[in-house]
Amino acid sequence: MIRPVIAGNWKMNKTIAEAVDFATRLREALGSRDDREVIIAPPFTALQAVAEALRGSPIRLAAQNLHEAEKGAYTGEVSAAMLSEAGCACVIVGHSERRTLFGEGNERINRKLQATLTEGLQPIFCVGETLAEREAGRMPAVIEGQLKEGLNHLTADDIGETVIAYEPVWAIGTGRTASPGQAQEVHRLIRDWLGQQYGAGRAAETAILYGGSVTPKNISELMTQPDINGALVGGASLDVATFMEIIQYQ
Ligand code: 13P
Repeated sequence: MIRPVIAGNWKMNKTIAEAVDFATRLREALGSRDDREVIIAPPFTALQAVAEALRGSPIRLAAQNLHEAEKGAYTGEVSAAMLSEAGCACVIVGHSERRTLFGEGNERINRKLQATLTEGLQPIFCVGETLAEREAGRMPAVIEGQLKEGLNHLTADDIGETVIAYEPVWAIGTGRTASPGQAQEVHRLIRDWLGQQYGAGRAAETAILYGGSVTPKNISELMTQPDINGALVGGASLDVATFMEIIQYQ
């Protein structure tokens, strides 16, 4: 049985002061509740301060991106070891905004996943098709291609450390959520693919999150689906009360 994972991706939002205030209030609101795994992903600048604010709490800290090299002449970039030192436990890798706005392809994402795992951090590896791909009937091929190329060289043990997030690009920030049935179909496809590659046991233990316009209104129905193990929340993770409502879905 996978403990439900509710992760908040803040994207490029919140100052350090706002982030610390959020983390402090979230921690209070959550108390000792541990039947849901809660993750927040602030921007780089706030990571260390939020790590301090969360010290001793079950809430885990994630970065939104990393560079795959250990160190060197990569102006503006941040390595896995730097994130680990700042207090991160997880890193979001391959988010669709990184793919489309910053030109990250599957091969690059694969190197980022390897760098994340080498550092002992947990990747939250994102996959998802665009509307044009879905309408052209290419959703299964696109998702399988992202999995195959993104997870290249990873072992079954690596998969055991990895969380997968299905985020249909057409549902991100649009208010247009995939229906629970549409999401379940893709989550099933992902789990079946993992089963073929790494064995059914590993596939059954892998948390697969849904992302794309998740709100307190639609979370419960999404979570009734057998292969949806949690949510990667964007806009609705920026307010403590709203995010808590999602965490406390029934
Ligand atoms: P929204 O919840 O704002 O649609 O964003 C989803 C997302 O991209 C999370 O990573």
